[in-house]
Amino acid sequence: MRDAGEVAARLLAWYDRAARVMPWRIGPAERAAGVRPDPYRVWLSEVMLQQTTVAAVRDYFHRFTERWPTVQALAAAEDGAVMAEWAGLGYYARARNLLKCARAVAERGDFPRTRDGLLGLPGIGPYTAAAVAAIAFDEPATVVDGNVERVVSRLFRVEAPLPGAKPRLVALAETLTPATRPGDFAQAMMDLGATVCTPRNPACAICPVLDLCDARAAGVQAGLPRKAPKAAKPLRRGIAYLARREDGAWLLERRPERGLLGGMLGWPCTDWNEAPAPAPPLAADWQEAGEVRHTFTHFDLRLTLHVARVDRGATPARGSFLAGAAFHPDDLPTVMRKAFALADAVLARD
Ligand code: ADE
Repeated sequence: MRDAGEVAARLLAWYDRAARVMPWRIGPAERAAGVRPDPYRVWLSEVMLQQTTVAAVRDYFHRFTERWPTVQALAAAEDGAVMAEWAGLGYYARARNLLKCARAVAERGDFPRTRDGLLGLPGIGPYTAAAVAAIAFDEPATVVDGNVERVVSRLFRVEAPLPGAKPRLVALAETLTPATRPGDFAQAMMDLGATVCTPRNPACAICPVLDLCDARAAGVQAGLPRKAPKAAKPLRRGIAYLARREDGAWLLERRPERGLLGGMLGWPCTDWNEAPAPAPPLAADWQEAGEVRHTFTHFDLRLTLHVARVDRGATPARGSFLAGAAFHPDDLPTVMRKAFALADAVLARD
């Protein structure tokens, strides 16, 4: 039996004292003066923060907002420039959807101000719609990410394992969401989960809702939320072809829009499966140069690197040569960047 109003009031008071400073947030003094967060920055941060930590997002957020300070500016950006800035953040469908959404918002003039309106935009799912509605527009939408799931599972001592328990956790989180300051409340829950109600060693001694927590009362907080065991990831293999021309240009290929790493620049590759058939993009004296390992959401990849030096007349069947001066490894997704680092070292050595 929990007083939802008490939980919200304590968490908001704690947030006013302890909120983490983030570049898309408004500080307590500004908020008291009536300043509202910029919906563009809130939306951009929420898309970046899905599946990615705050620490990893910070620099990307600064670079994006410096280069594209408004949703109109982002909408007018070239696809390749946005994909290059996103490189390294992972889950590249997010970047393609980000652009689609920016263009839809620019077309209609501004962001819709409600959860339902936001849900109508391309690439915005229930999580992002709720987060933007609550944080930017003060709609009492309930925002449930992994941190919030953990906090709620402990407050209410939900013993059923995730992912099956998710609807119950969402319903319980809804009972806590206050009518005033729902955006700050959502972020207070996230901050509590990230800094106090942490996965392994929760710092219950400094928790503002310690005495309201059922898991803590029973001493079972560290074991919640329970998680159903995950299936082992399958292993896929592939060959990546890294060709450097004598003038320093590299052979690169933009990946198809649909599918893994869609729209990103990378090295020409075979398919990734159990036993890939070789598929060099041009005839050359290919040499094996080691293996790169990378973990994706649904499989582990072992990518065998084949490298070659080729002359100026080389005409590839796939991809095109990019001059050394125009090639920035940072524009590549992480697995392709790892491949470059190894191939470059091998070619420099031999
Ligand atoms: N994770 C996702 N969105 C967040 C936010 N607004 N504050 C803190 N952590 C977050």
